[in-house]
Amino acid sequence: MLKNPLKAIYQMVESYGDIFAFKIGNMRSIIFLNHPDYVKHVLKDNVDNYSRGKALKMSTTGLEEMLGNGIFMSEGNDWEFQHKLLKNLFSPTAIESTLPILHDEIDQFITKWSNVIANSPIVNIEYDIHLLMLRIMLRSHVCNNYPFNYKEVFDTYNARIEASSWNVGAVSEAKSFFLKPLGINYTYKKHQLQIDKLNSFSDKLVQELLNGEFEPIGLFALMLSEFKEGRVTEKDIRDQLFNFLLAGFETTATAISWLLYNIVAQPNLQALLKNELKVAATSKDALLKQPSFLQLAIKESLRLYAPVWSTARVAVNDDVIGGKFIKAKSIVVVNSYALHRHKLFWPSGDRFDISNFEKDNFKGKTFAYIPYSQGKRICLGMALADYQIQTITSALLKAFHFETTSNKAPEIKANIIIKASPSLQLKISKASE
Ligand code: HEM
Repeated sequence: MLKNPLKAIYQMVESYGDIFAFKIGNMRSIIFLNHPDYVKHVLKDNVDNYSRGKALKMSTTGLEEMLGNGIFMSEGNDWEFQHKLLKNLFSPTAIESTLPILHDEIDQFITKWSNVIANSPIVNIEYDIHLLMLRIMLRSHVCNNYPFNYKEVFDTYNARIEASSWNVGAVSEAKSFFLKPLGINYTYKKHQLQIDKLNSFSDKLVQELLNGEFEPIGLFALMLSEFKEGRVTEKDIRDQLFNFLLAGFETTATAISWLLYNIVAQPNLQALLKNELKVAATSKDALLKQPSFLQLAIKESLRLYAPVWSTARVAVNDDVIGGKFIKAKSIVVVNSYALHRHKLFWPSGDRFDISNFEKDNFKGKTFAYIPYSQGKRICLGMALADYQIQTITSALLKAFHFETTSNKAPEIKANIIIKASPSLQLKISKASE
């Protein structure tokens, strides 16, 4: 469980079925759910009984501190207020306004890779794409002309997230549990250095933007105007920045990295997609053809490698799911990795198969497929993420030809987001005309 939680949970789901409880000693029960009906119950039908904020607060690794009172932690009226406000950032017009930055970043990225591959064709795509998505996020949601040290922000953020990994969390839970009877209150401190660094980065940023030294954009423009109206505090601006960092760049970067890998690992799929893009560039009718092979590939890649592979809630009141009693305060976990491989709904299992989303094949599977979650707490950035994934992947497929560097499927490392271990690499060359 500590070494590879994703595999351990998957094996438990395979052995114990669609609903089972996991408990060590006097620790709270963790109820694992793996049936679309149960998932629908928690994410939609009885959503207000299942608190994400409380689940995050229970973690001993300090994610709560990082997320503060931002949208991820919020509930009730507080969530309604934040959701209504932040929704404005994802309207079609708002997404359109971020396009010049997106295209500028893509152009710079293609130039960078063209130079890199002239010397060394094997590229750590995961690292580079993460940095790209961080740049896009900060330029379009904080400030377009701020002298960010992107690499430093990225490295600090990474170290911070690493300190909140599942195994670090589980070890610190266990230490605090076993040391308590000895009168020792164990508190996890490893993340504090990164929290301090991230806090001073955001404090400086908020001050400089409030003083008018730089022009805010996207999230920051919205939050600063709310601040001037007295509806949010400086701390709220900082909290929302960290919620957006957690939600909005690593997820998309991971989705694009696995998508590229999956496209390249399937025989003929890369050629099929390149041809589709060529036809779309010359024929207006082709653009109307829905859904494109690229859209099918995106959906299938998000099925097998949903970046958010697991999500937890705490039951507020007693409840019953699938005939089983759920005691108030139990932790309820939905594991997309296992759900997206459920034998009844996904006969292709681990095999990449874009026909899963063709024609009527997806009918009736809404709650068996939750890469962006479901119900009222569904991902707010879904439309933006989808647009970014399509646009960036299309541009990269047009500019380059990709090959895998090994016949072995990559190992998965699951922290908050699912990653490859070692990081995904591809052999890259310039695309032939
Ligand atoms: C492929 C990319 C993405 C994936 C797979 C993804 C997935 C998810 C998932 C699964 C949740 C629910 C988490 C839970 O219930 O525990 C979520 C929530 C959220 N996501 Fe995304 N996300 C993506 C991109 C983005 C982007 C680009 C943004 C914004 C810039 C964003 C903003 C949010 C926000 C604000 C929430 C919280 C919504 C709420 O609680 O009301 N996401 N996302």
